[in-house]
Parts: sequence; structure tokens; C-alpha cells
Amino acid sequence: MSDVAAQTTKQNPLQYITDQLKELRAGGVAPRLRVLEGEQKPVCIFDGREVINLASNNYLGLTTHKALRKAALDAVKRYGAGAGAVRTIAGTMKIHMELEEQIAAFKNVEACVVFQSGFTANAGTVSAVLGKEDLIISDELNHASIIDGARLSRATIKVFKHKDGKDCERILQEHAGFPGKKLIITDGVFSMDGDIAPLPELCDLAEKYNCIMMVDDAHASGVLGRGGAGRSTISGVTGACTSRWERSAKPSARWVATFAARAIWSIFFTCGRGPFFFRLRIRRRRRRLARRRLRCWIRRKAKSW
Ligand SMILES: Cc1ncc(COP(=O)(O)O)c(C=O)c1O
Repeated sequence: MSDVAAQTTKQNPLQYITDQLKELRAGGVAPRLRVLEGEQKPVCIFDGREVINLASNNYLGLTTHKALRKAALDAVKRYGAGAGAVRTIAGTMKIHMELEEQIAAFKNVEACVVFQSGFTANAGTVSAVLGKEDLIISDELNHASIIDGARLSRATIKVFKHKDGKDCERILQEHAGFPGKKLIITDGVFSMDGDIAPLPELCDLAEKYNCIMMVDDAHASGVLGRGGAGRSTISGVTGACTSRWERSAKPSARWVATFAARAIWSIFFTCGRGPFFFRLRIRRRRRRLARRRLRCWIRRKAKSW
């Protein structure tokens, strides 16, 4: 073995992780997963201690609701414990479609796409709709998953002061000649402090400057707005904005994160833009080959039947 090869085999390529963890532990800031025993309840047992749970997203108590437990058990009995494939291949079931229709009706929008989490909803929508030639104007206290979604799109990102419509307008004016699409994006209810975005003002700006408007309604759906349908159903918002879309996750405690939208958007995602429809493009030659193999296999099987 050469000297270089011997040196390479001796080094642990993951040593840096051990070092970083040691550093974090020494500083007392190493992340640790808290372990819940039993159900998500207002008072529950975490790491063997009884605590008041102020960190859960189960605002409406839906994870432990009698009717939902029963529906989940019935569904497992009827359909099994999973979809068996991602939605874009063979995992879209009739019950997914029914759920999306019902959520769209609840949100009073044309259509809706259900994602696995709030994070994937933001990553899957922002990066699907915008590209590197576009502009995102984002509240400085937006949730981290909005920031990640924005980065994934590779669009130019400009940040306005928290809940400050005037600062948002300043950025819009400075970018009046920007050639790409523009998106204003905000939490409906902010996740850290629970304060509320000035949606009517932002929606008016979106209309005035011809922007797409996105509201992350994770903390408002089921809680605020008309019939609990979210912040964006309050007067002055619905109808004020031509291109409104929103997502919601929390009240159902992460069973679903939905992207409620105009029908056109949901078609857009499921037709091949962004992480919802991750790279599924198979080269034409490979597709032909796969089809030929499949035909041979069917012929062979047919003979043996
Ligand atoms: C406003 C907001 N959006 C998105 C998310 C991400 O949702 P999830 O935790 O389901 O990925 C959160 C989570 O805390 C949130 O508060």
C-alpha cells in the first residue's frame, strides 16, 4: 500500500462530527430529543417527568380525539399501514383525493395539495413556483422552513422588517423594474411570538405591485378566521389578492400540511415542478428498454399461467 493510501485509510472521515458534538456538549448547547411517554396531552410525561406541555402543535387535541382515533384505525384495517409508494408514483389513493377536496372546501379554495409536514409544504411550494430569475420578499421573522424553501428556489431574497408594510413597499419600489416574478411571503400568525401579520396591507401591496402572495397559515387554520379556516379568510384578505395561497399544518398536529390554492397551482406541483414531484424523468432510451423488458416478462408469465 502506498503512503498516501495508508494515510487515507487511517483517518476517520466522520471525526469532525465527533469533534463538533464534543464542542456543543462542552458549551451545553448540544441538541437532545425529548422523549414523550404516552399521548400528546396538556400534562404529559417527557423524559420520565410530568410536565405541562406548551410545545406541542396539538392545539385542538385532534391527535387524541375519539373520532379521529377511530377513523385512523378503520383506515388501517381497510387500506393497510401505508400507501406503499410516494404519491407521484403509485401512492396517491382515493382517500388522499377525498381529503384534499374536503380541505379545499373548508378553506374555500379551488384545490389543495397535502404534504407530509409544514417543512415539506414550504419547501415544495416556494421552490416549485419560483426560480433563480425571481424575487422573494419575506418577513424577517418568517419560519425557518419558509427561508429554506426560498433558498431552494435560488430566487433573490429580500427581507422586510417584521410586520412592516412600509418596509415591504420600500423593497417593492426599489425592485420596480425587476424582470422576474415577485412573491411576498409571510406567516399568518408568527410561530415564535404568536403575533399576527398585517395581511390586508400586504395583500394590497401584492395587488398594487403585481406580486404573488403566500401566507403560511400553520398556526391559524382551525383557530382563526371565518369558521376557523385561517387568517387569510378574514375580511380584506379574501378577494383582495388575486394570487393568494396558503398552507396549514398545526391544528391537526402534523397529520397533514396542506397547500390550499387555486386549482392551477396544484396541477402545477403534481405536473413536475419542485420537490413534490422529485426527479422522475427517465431517459427515453431507458424507458424504451424498461417497456421491452416488461413486455418480455408479461409474455413469459402468460405462458406459465
Ligand atoms: C409557521 C410555521 N410554518 C412551518 C412550520 C413547519 O412545520 P412542521 O413542523 O410541520 O414541519 C412551522 C413549525 O413549527 C411553523 O411554525
